[in-house]
Amino acid sequence: MTKRLLVTGSNGLIGSEVCVYFSKLGFEVHGLDNNQRAVFFGPQGDTRWNQQRLQQAIPAYIHHELDMRDRAGVDSLVKGLRPDLVVHTAAQPSHDRAAAIPFDDFDTNAVGTLNLLEACRHSCPEAPFIHMSTNKVYGDAPNRIPLEEQAKRWDYADAHREHGIPETFTIDQSLHSLFGASKVAADVLVQEYGRYFGMRTCCLRGGCLTGPNHSGVELHGFLSYLVKCNLEEKPYTVYGYKGKQVRDNIHSEDVAGFMHQFYLQPRSGEVYNLGGGKQNSCSILEAFEMVEGFSGKKQRYAYVDQNRMGDHICYYSDLRKMRSHFPGWALNHSLPQITEQIVTAWQKRLK
Ligand SMILES: NC(=O)c1ccc[n+]([C@@H]2O[C@H](COP(=O)([O-])OP(=O)(O)OC[C@H]3O[C@@H](n4cnc5c(N)ncnc54)[C@H](O)[C@@H]3O)[C@@H](O)[C@H]2O)c1
Repeated sequence: MTKRLLVTGSNGLIGSEVCVYFSKLGFEVHGLDNNQRAVFFGPQGDTRWNQQRLQQAIPAYIHHELDMRDRAGVDSLVKGLRPDLVVHTAAQPSHDRAAAIPFDDFDTNAVGTLNLLEACRHSCPEAPFIHMSTNKVYGDAPNRIPLEEQAKRWDYADAHREHGIPETFTIDQSLHSLFGASKVAADVLVQEYGRYFGMRTCCLRGGCLTGPNHSGVELHGFLSYLVKCNLEEKPYTVYGYKGKQVRDNIHSEDVAGFMHQFYLQPRSGEVYNLGGGKQNSCSILEAFEMVEGFSGKKQRYAYVDQNRMGDHICYYSDLRKMRSHFPGWALNHSLPQITEQIVTAWQKRLK
């Protein structure tokens, strides 16, 4: 029997990748998206091009134009579909944007997740439920780790942090931003539907998720946006930390690959830090150099002393729990490969 997949946020970076990935495995793919990213970020955040790409790439793709905040609509969709797998990626994804739109942010991220969880509990409680969470659930607590300043990046000074941030790190009593707070609410709800109701749920606390199909904007999607600035020869603004702030980057296909492993052997109420780990980490200064290498264009940039509120100085994910639970999963895209793909994709889209 053909398995049915429901992906929320299907026009987005992760949602679209998941649709393509599972369609190749023979799933019947249903996407839910209302292009809310264009409302959050303006025309630069428009995702319709990606929806069209999906409709061309997957002939049997079925799109559902629906808002996650529409509780009755979400319930009726899930009731009608009874999916075998649910991947929830729809979100207001920006730390900085949330302060200007607190209700839209919370209603989408926290209440939208609850709408979907409840619908699934009633109509498809056996289906694995994979939720895209974020490393912002740790708030700015990672900034308390002693750091060492290197020529082009910050790094952890403490040897026992050499693998990065584990899932046991505190999510409490730190500055989260309203986005971080709404994502904590969603994350804890997803865990609870696993622990309390026994559903097979997991939260993937993403580092920087990226790839050629991101509609990168200044407020979200740093590598994609940085590449776009480079190609358009526009200055990229660096906010504080001397441009040495470190992020770990993972290709959206490697994210989808992990979801597949979870689908094959689901667990209940699990939490994983999902990023590129130390091997795929870079500072903004290092990213400039890498992008210049592929585009042949010098990166222009402006520097503002004030860092973004609550921004991590150095963050990379400890991938050891993912690897031990799912030895079949691996990172298949190195950071230079990811960067090259993003450069090529923007070169085409900007023509
Ligand atoms: N990209 C990253 O670096 C990153 C890092 C950590 C966590 N995450 C998380 O991963 C998930 C996916 O991120 P992404 O980068 O693919 O984001 P994205 O903005 O590219 O995709 C999200 C999609 O959800 C849709 N959407 C938003 N609100 C909606 C609503 N109310 N109803 C229906 N659709 C709605 C948007 O239109 C968009 O297409 C999010 O939960 C995000 O918080 C992303």
